[in-house]
Amino acid sequence: MGAKQDKKLFIKTWGCQMNVYDSKRMEDILSPFGYKTSDTPEDADMVILNTCHIREKATDKVFSELGRIRPLKEKKAESGQQMLIAVAGCVAQAEGAFIMERAPYVDMVFGPQTYHELPEMIANLTDAYGDNRLVNTEFPHENKFDFLPEEHGSQGVNAFLSIQEGCDKFCTFCVVPYTRGSEYSRTAQSIVDEAKRLVDQGALEICLLGQNVNAFHGEGPDGKTWGLGRLIKEIADIKGLERIRYTTSHPRDMDEELIEAHAIEKLMPFLHLPVQSGSDKILKAMNRKHKTDIYLDVIEKLRNIRPDISFSSDFIVAFPGETDQDFEDTMQLVRDVNFASAYSFKYSARPGTPAANMQNLVRDDIATDRLARLQALLNEQQLAFNQSSVGLTLPVLLEREGKREGQLSGRTPYFQSVNVEANERLMGQIVDIKITDGYAKSVAGEIVTYETISKETA
Ligand code: 5AD
Ligand code: SF4
Repeated sequence: MGAKQDKKLFIKTWGCQMNVYDSKRMEDILSPFGYKTSDTPEDADMVILNTCHIREKATDKVFSELGRIRPLKEKKAESGQQMLIAVAGCVAQAEGAFIMERAPYVDMVFGPQTYHELPEMIANLTDAYGDNRLVNTEFPHENKFDFLPEEHGSQGVNAFLSIQEGCDKFCTFCVVPYTRGSEYSRTAQSIVDEAKRLVDQGALEICLLGQNVNAFHGEGPDGKTWGLGRLIKEIADIKGLERIRYTTSHPRDMDEELIEAHAIEKLMPFLHLPVQSGSDKILKAMNRKHKTDIYLDVIEKLRNIRPDISFSSDFIVAFPGETDQDFEDTMQLVRDVNFASAYSFKYSARPGTPAANMQNLVRDDIATDRLARLQALLNEQQLAFNQSSVGLTLPVLLEREGKREGQLSGRTPYFQSVNVEANERLMGQIVDIKITDGYAKSVAGEIVTYETISKETA
C-alpha cells in the first residue's frame, strides 16, 4: 500500500465498547502504513465511520454524517488529492448495498468481521488497476482476532480487551447475531498474554469485552474449555493489575464458576446484566431463553457471594404485545432488584429481525409514557444509590480531567463517576476518596489525606 509517508486518518465511532475497541484496532492496523489519527475529518486521506445498528435511526445518522464529509472530499479532489470514505461497523454489515447506491461518493463499505483485511482493501482501491468501489460484508472462516496486529502503544490505565465476539442467542429484537455473526471465543492463552502486555504498558484496570462476554468458552492451555469464571481467576493473578470488569452479559450464561469468581477482590462489585423485561410472557416473545426467576436467582447468588455488589441493566419497553400488566411486572422487577444504574429504550423494529414482523404493536404514546415511568423509577434508584455512598471512602481510579478546572474524574468500584479536586500528578492512580455528595448521575468527593482523617478522629 505505497510508501510510508504520513497520511491523515479520521475515525468516527458510534455505539458500544466493542466498536470503540474496533476503531482502536483499525488505527493499529493502519498505523504501519503511515496513517496517523486525527480529531477532525478536514483534509483527511481516509475517513472511517464506524457505525452502530442496534436501535433506531442508525442509517439516517450515517447519511447525515456522510453529508457533512462529502464537501470535504470534493474540496480535496479540487486540489487533485483523494479522500477515501469508508462506512464500517454494523450499519455497513446490514445495509452495505443500500449505502453504496444512495451515496456514490462512498468508496468502501465493510463489516466488523473484515477489519484485518483493511490494508488490502485500501490498496485495491488506490491501485490504478484495482476496483473503484468496494463492499466487503463477508463473514470469513478465518477469524479476525488471529490476524489483527498486537496493540500499538498503551491504552492507558484503563484498558479494554476483547475476548469474544458475536452472539448465538437470537433475541427476536436484536440485530447483533446478523451483524456480528456467530459466537467466537479467543484462546485463553492469547487473552492472558494480551492482559499481561496491557499491564506492562500501565493498565491498572482491564475490562473484558464481548457482545455476549459470559458465553465465553475459549480453549485453555490445559486443553480444556475455559469459561469466563476460570479466565477471570487466571487474569486476577497478574501482578500489577488492580481491577477487572466484564461486559456485556446474558443472565443465562451466569454459571456457578462465574458467580463464584465474584468473590475475587479484583473483580469489581458491579455488574451490567441486561434483563430487558420483567414479564415472563414478553421474555418468551423476545426469545431471551430465561424467565424472571432465573434472573432474580442469579442476582441473589451474586449478592450472597459479594454482599456489596451493585447492578445495572438494559430494558426495552413496549415490545409488541406488552400489556399494562407486563409493564407493571417490569416495574416490579426493578423494585425487587434495586439498580445502581440502567439503560432503557423504547422498542424499535430492526429490519431483518423476527420481531419486526410481529403484530400487536404498542401505540407510541403508550410506549412514551411507559418509558418515562420506568426511567423515573430507575433515576430515583440511581440517585438513592449515589446518596447511599455519601460518607464512604472508596478507591477511585482517576482516569481523566474532571468536569471543572482543577478536578480529576474517575470511577468508584461500583462504576459511579466521581469528580474530585485533585493535583494532576494523581492522574492514572487509584486514590482513596471520601464521598461527600450523591447526584443523579455521579458522586462528588474529596481526597482522603492525613488532614481529613485527623479531622474526623479529632
Ligand atoms: N429496540 C430497542 N432496544 C434495543 N436494544 C437492542 N435492540 C433493540 C431494539 N430493537 C437494546 C437492548 C440491548 C441494548 C444494547 O440495546 O436493551 O440490551
Ligand atoms: Fe442481541 Fe440477545 Fe445476543 Fe444480546 S444476547 S447481543 S440482545 S441477540
